[in-house]
Amino acid sequence: MRFAILAFGGVLWGSASALAQTGGDVVEGHLYAHHVCAACHAVDRGVLASPNSAAPAFQRIVNSSGRSDLSVLVWLHTPHQTMPDIEVESEDLRDLFAYLDSLRDEP
Ligand code: HEC
Repeated sequence: MRFAILAFGGVLWGSASALAQTGGDVVEGHLYAHHVCAACHAVDRGVLASPNSAAPAFQRIVNSSGRSDLSVLVWLHTPHQTMPDIEVESEDLRDLFAYLDSLRDEP
C-alpha cells in the first residue's frame, strides 16, 4: 500500500511549477494528505468520490471558484461541526498547499 502511494507520488514530480509557487514539496504534501485527510476526503487527482460523502474531493475544492490557499487556511483554522480541527505544522502546510495547487486545473 505504502509502495503504491509512493509510486503514485512519483508521478506528481512533474508538477514543478507548483513546487516553485509555494516552496512546498508536492510529494510530501500528497503523503500528508493521505495520512491526515484521506479518511474523509478523496485526495487523489481524478478521484471525486470521497470516503465521507459529506467531505468534498480535494480536486473539487481547489477547482471551485474562490477557493484559494488562503481560504483553505482559514477553513482549517475555523472550528467545524462536521470536520475535526486539525493543527497542521507550517512545513506540512506548505507541502499540503503545493499538493493542492498541483490539483488545480488552471494554475
Ligand atoms: C474526519 C473527517 C475529515 C477529515 C480527517 C478531514 N476533513 Fe476536511 N471536511 C470534512 C467534511 C465532512 C467537510 C464538509 C464540511 C461542511 O461542508 O460543512 C470538509 C470540508 C473541508 C474543506 C472545505 C471544502 C469546501 O470548499 O467547502 C476543506 C478545505 C477541507 N475539508 C480540508 C481538509 C484538509 C486539508 C484535511 C487534512 C489536513 C481535512 N480536510 C481532513 C471532513 C474531514
